Amino acid sequence: MAPPGRPRLYLATRNAGKVREFGRLLGAWFAVEPLAPDVTLPPENGSTFAENALLKAGAGFAEVGGQVAVLADDSGLEVDALGGEPGVRSARYAGEDAGDRENVLRLLEELSGRSDRRGRFVCALALLLPPELARLAGTGLLEARGTLEGTITLEPRGETGFGYDPVFRPAGWERTLAEGGPDEKDAISHRGDAVRALVALWQSIGSPPGGALSSPGGDLPSPGGDS
Ligand code: IMP
Repeated sequence: MAPPGRPRLYLATRNAGKVREFGRLLGAWFAVEPLAPDVTLPPENGSTFAENALLKAGAGFAEVGGQVAVLADDSGLEVDALGGEPGVRSARYAGEDAGDRENVLRLLEELSGRSDRRGRFVCALALLLPPELARLAGTGLLEARGTLEGTITLEPRGETGFGYDPVFRPAGWERTLAEGGPDEKDAISHRGDAVRALVALWQSIGSPPGGALSSPGGDLPSPGGDS
């Protein structure tokens, strides 16, 4: 059960790295839980991050009977010299069953000998709301996007994070994302950026001119405990 004032929110993802990051980023606002392991998520065959996020959120929302808020993110790395690749195929860049290590190695191989190594992480979020929250919010779908600019290093460095973090050096940093701590990543990351935009949207619809809305558990979420 969600503590009072924090609606329950399911995450439509199987990526443990994302579950950890959303728990940290959204725990003050929602009681964040992963979807049950037996829930099947659809293939990510959309052509944009936003399309894929909506596909995943919609599938998760159907699985919970539309009665609990469901959040999905689709994210990935766009590299300028590769025409935006790996993009929406970031998770399977080196093949359908590829892991982080194989994907990173393929990226380094594709960029071998290139001097322009600029790129960015992109995160698209889709949050579907159950009827009682949708009624209070005046909409059943909230969407947000965040980005993080940087460059791809020549070799992996660092142990924290996941995915392409060991080869991504954020603009203004001397280290890779995998050499920074979780709080440092959250403060600048594409996911942190998108979550902050989503929360701002949530707050703006939760506090319309003329008075605040309230949710079944009390007020619409405000910063609270951990999750
Ligand atoms: P998807 O959103 O499930 O399609 O997967 C996104 C993929 O993009 C992940 O498997 C990672 O390879 C990569 N990715 C997304 N966000 C991050 C991040 O914060 N750090 C490193 N890699 C990321």
